[in-house]
Amino acid sequence: MKFFIDTANLSQIKEANELGILDGVTTNPSLMAKEGIKGHEAVMNHYLTICEMVDGDISAEVVSTDFNGIVEEGKKLAAIHENIVVKVPMIKDGIKAIKWFSENGIKTNCTLVFSAGQAILAAKAGASYVSPFIGRLDDTGWDGLELIHQMRQIFSLQNYSTEILAASIRNPNHIIKCAEAGADVCTCPLDSILGLLKHPLTDIGLQKFLEDAKKFA
Ligand code: E4P
Repeated sequence: MKFFIDTANLSQIKEANELGILDGVTTNPSLMAKEGIKGHEAVMNHYLTICEMVDGDISAEVVSTDFNGIVEEGKKLAAIHENIVVKVPMIKDGIKAIKWFSENGIKTNCTLVFSAGQAILAAKAGASYVSPFIGRLDDTGWDGLELIHQMRQIFSLQNYSTEILAASIRNPNHIIKCAEAGADVCTCPLDSILGLLKHPLTDIGLQKFLEDAKKFA
């Protein structure tokens, strides 16, 4: 399973990248706004900076909701860097645009996916990635991980080449469960990635080893 970081924060991207396990980055308009990035040029420059930091796919989301707008915006985003993946919302014009992008050699990530039916449409349209939001499903009383299992089964049976990109990750256990369920990619906040490092027995064991090491130093 590939690891993406789900943020537009450059220091968090740097920290995750320095771990040596990062395969890409996902952003969205809310994450960009959180960093205080304003204006077309600043937004484009920010995406370019991320592309220059991380050698992997970088999702940049369109804010248009009509076919022509999505295609025009997506073409400009894709022109920033060869690793840009155009992130397109799961709406009717979004599906048409994903089909257009796939026929024109532009990678896409279909976002805001909450059901297997939506995922099937995105895959049929030729999306490179489809992003089921598991945390947001859990928040509303549905089972986000069940959707990953269902999508894995369908995508494998149907031989879809679209990658399942588990998104809206809330904790380290979500990452483990996504790996178990066969997600191709998991995009995670830095805290959830770092959370995988932790176990109290590791801390206790290391403390003891370091104490004993002093005896033969
Ligand atoms: C996915 O690409 C989205 O950016 C993200 O995972 C949404 O997560 P949230 O529900 O924590 O906002």
